Amino acid sequence: MADALEIVCASAEATQAAAAALGRACEAGTVIALEGDLGAGKTTFVQGLARGLGVPESVRVQSPTFAIAHRHAQGRLPLDHADFYRVDDPDELTELGVAEAIAAPDGVAAVEWPSRCPSILPPDRLELSLRIEGAARRLVAHATGPLAARVLGAWRAELC
Ligand SMILES: Nc1ncnc2c1ncn2[C@@H]1O[C@H](COP(=O)(O)OP(=O)(O)OP(=O)(O)O)[C@@H](O)[C@H]1O
Ligand SMILES: [Mg+2]
Repeated sequence: MADALEIVCASAEATQAAAAALGRACEAGTVIALEGDLGAGKTTFVQGLARGLGVPESVRVQSPTFAIAHRHAQGRLPLDHADFYRVDDPDELTELGVAEAIAAPDGVAAVEWPSRCPSILPPDRLELSLRIEGAARRLVAHATGPLAARVLGAWRAELC
């Protein structure tokens, strides 16, 4: 299917390399919803994404579980990295100024545990799921709108 992509990443480094390719392919306004169990590799993926966007290695990209969101502005496009794991109410995201950054990002938004607060996400997004298969991770991505479909196509080209 043109609007879907499936890859198996054998190591954390392979997941980060695939994510870096997506970072090079992202356009302003790209929203990436990252599904997957605890430890599936969502934060690991965002670390690679940040590198692909040009965020330097010296900047640590960590789980924003407690802060809910971190902004990394050092790359080609700003990256808002959010984790909805501890979000109970969408109003919290509005109060923190996170809702706007996710609903209409000026750069790229990556959201861990998006299903905890799905109403915040825009209709056009790249949905990505990570499934644990031993040391490997099966990564399935699909686009839900035209912007995400363009980014998915560019990502596929970057992976070649
Ligand atoms: N193929 C792989 N891809 C990604 N991570 C891997 C892989 N193999 C092993 N790992 C390890 O799995 C762990 C993934 O942790 P990570 O924090 O990225 O998960 P997460 O999905 O963000 O979890 P959480 O839901 O707690 O936020 C890391 O320790 C990473 O090194
Ligand atoms: Mg995480």
